[in-house]
Amino acid sequence: MSSTLWRDNRGRFIAIALVIAGVFLFDVFAPFDVSIAVLYTLAISIAIGTFSESGIIAVAAIASLLTCTGFFVVHDGDLETAAAGRCLVALIAIAGTTAIAVWTQRAAKHDRVERQQLAANLDRIQVELRHLGRVTLMGELSSAIVHEIRQPLSAIAIEAEAGRRWQARGISAVAEADACFERIIVESRRADAIIARLRAMARQESGTSSVFSFNDIVNDVVPLIRRELVAHSVKLDLSLPPSSHSICGDRVQFQQVLLNLALNAIQAMAPDENARHVLKLHAGYTTPDTSLATLEVRDTGPGIPAELSERLFQPFFTTKPQGMGMGLSICRSIVEAHGGCIEIVPNEGGGAAFRIAVPTAAPLTEAVHDVPAQGHQGWRPPLPA
Ligand SMILES: Nc1ncnc2c1ncn2[C@@H]1O[C@H](COP(=O)(O)OP(=O)(O)OP(=O)(O)O)[C@@H](O)[C@H]1O
Ligand SMILES: [Mg+2]
Repeated sequence: MSSTLWRDNRGRFIAIALVIAGVFLFDVFAPFDVSIAVLYTLAISIAIGTFSESGIIAVAAIASLLTCTGFFVVHDGDLETAAAGRCLVALIAIAGTTAIAVWTQRAAKHDRVERQQLAANLDRIQVELRHLGRVTLMGELSSAIVHEIRQPLSAIAIEAEAGRRWQARGISAVAEADACFERIIVESRRADAIIARLRAMARQESGTSSVFSFNDIVNDVVPLIRRELVAHSVKLDLSLPPSSHSICGDRVQFQQVLLNLALNAIQAMAPDENARHVLKLHAGYTTPDTSLATLEVRDTGPGIPAELSERLFQPFFTTKPQGMGMGLSICRSIVEAHGGCIEIVPNEGGGAAFRIAVPTAAPLTEAVHDVPAQGHQGWRPPLPA
């Protein structure tokens, strides 16, 4: 018997032992004439939910043995007496109770296994959904991705051309040619880093946890949305504290959250020559306890009607002809899996404002205290951009 089983169920073990000992003593020394043996069933009932199947059967075996022992001690094993009949009834009651106990135990175990399987299936579906969401996002961003990789590639070509020209000048231009090679190396590494980042985003859930800040997430994502911003004539307004709070979790998943929110915002701001659309990304933390790192995504689009604010987070809710309606629901599941929350917050200047709040991984440093940010309790929206 494991010591944890004993520690967690000490009360039940003692109760079973007391019932068995009490019934036996009454059976042998009091004038109940075997009829009390039926109370051994109490001990079996107490064992349900604590003992394993074999444990219950062991309790039943002890009870049966003591019933027979009592009968032999008091009646000398005389099968002609009425006590023999009562002994048989007690044994049948013990056997019946044991059968019910074992059956109950099996049904409970079956339920438990089924629940675990259901939870595992749900987890797997969520992982697949998030992955699907990321792949869909990357499809939407394909032109931005191509553009991002082409930048270092064209820089490499330009530097190589320049290097060749410097080289043609002979020994006098060796330093300049060297500088060109250096820049080629830097640009190749940049292209490599972009590809590595994209591969990390596209691959199946890694589940790797690391420490990063919302500033890092914004810096990861901004290069990917630049092209969309230009295409929709949207100005980007970044408000990042010089030293922001660390959070612990899956960095790629948070990139996915911000990409979803930023693309939704950009798509909501219809290109209009007269409108001066702005996408504002604001990283901060809650006050006064600073226990949550926050990231806000604000836009100057049409905003979100109050009656829709909860439905937006439901899977497959979309108002876009090509939309899947999974973006915000995936965002919520990722943020909540990290112990945080995502909500729609007021935006005085019109437009939508989403706010993510996630528990911080490290205590606040003095540097961060100096940075003004919105609070969680008594939170007020900033002035419109
Ligand atoms: N910034 C926003 N401004 C206005 N409406 C928004 C904004 N963000 C989301 N919405 C509304 O919420 C709906 C759901 O968004 P969600 O990201 O879940 O799905 P989607 O963008 O329609 O499709 P996808 O699965 O491709 O992301 C959108 O269709 C849109 O109507
Ligand atoms: Mg979306």
